[in-house]
Amino acid sequence: MDWLSGFANPIERDVPLGDLTWYRIGGRARYLSRPDNESELERLVRRASEQGVDLKILGRGANVLVRDNGFNGVVVRLDTPAFQRTEVNGERVRVGAGVDLMRLAKRLSHDGLSGLECMAGIPGTIGGAVRMNAGGQFGCIGDVVERCRLLDANGVIETWSKDRLAFGYRISAIGDRVVLSADLRLRRSDRAETRRRFEEIFAAKTASQPISERSAGCVFKNPPGASAGALIDAAGLKGSRCGGAVVSQRHANFICADPSAKASDVERLAGMIAKRVRAEYGTELELEIDIW
Ligand code: EPU
Repeated sequence: MDWLSGFANPIERDVPLGDLTWYRIGGRARYLSRPDNESELERLVRRASEQGVDLKILGRGANVLVRDNGFNGVVVRLDTPAFQRTEVNGERVRVGAGVDLMRLAKRLSHDGLSGLECMAGIPGTIGGAVRMNAGGQFGCIGDVVERCRLLDANGVIETWSKDRLAFGYRISAIGDRVVLSADLRLRRSDRAETRRRFEEIFAAKTASQPISERSAGCVFKNPPGASAGALIDAAGLKGSRCGGAVVSQRHANFICADPSAKASDVERLAGMIAKRVRAEYGTELELEIDIW
């Protein structure tokens, strides 16, 4: 039997990935799967691992640059109902990996549950956000995660508590495991206040970042004690271009893509930025986006 057969949602082949990402560029996935439930996902992950086929989860595609030659493995989307559940129980919320982060943050803060206001303006799914401990100057998601259910390449499901998840700056111990769901601990608070805070943070982001343009958010992590955006700006790189990729005038840590851009333009521009910042300031910039 073909290792790809027997799934309730048939696995597609040779699927363009660009339109599934915010950059809207890049090649195709060899396979694309949208598992119907956890046991189908578990079977897929196990079979891919046995076959030595690479597997990646694609959330909202907000932090990903897919290379022009695509991804030679299985791309998994957790956008079926089984992964989209949200259960609110007092101040505790269990949320599926495929849930849209910003919609959840808006809903909960408008309902007076405080803790996710800092996610205003951060696109992505819960799974992607938890894995990289998404956040900004107002806080990060790891601050409110109590535990996570994770699936490993052997198909084993484990619940990891906050300590084991080891959240750091845009990093956690999750690695290549698949996030199934997360348990969040929020605080019941004044509804008008949490709502105001969410809207205020959202407004600050739209004012300082090119969020309506095609990008993957901040390209580089902030180096310890410094701001990548400020360094790139000070190096005079705003507006610099490689093909269809350009350093944003609004925020220098964003590389925006014209409709004509290739993924290789973005990657070349990122390389050029890192080189210039190294030469000018002796600072090594580390990529924050995922390049597939
Ligand atoms: N700055 C400049 N020029 C620029 C951009 C920034 O001088 O072109 C200066 C700002 O004036 C400020 C400092 O650099 O003094 C820091 O900038 P900002 O407040 O915009 O925050 P950031 O550190 O660049 C971080 C996260 C963002 C997050 C914001 C807001 C990283 C790499 N970036 O940006 O996250 O949205 O805080 O909370 O940690 C992302 O992860 O994709 C992302 C955009």
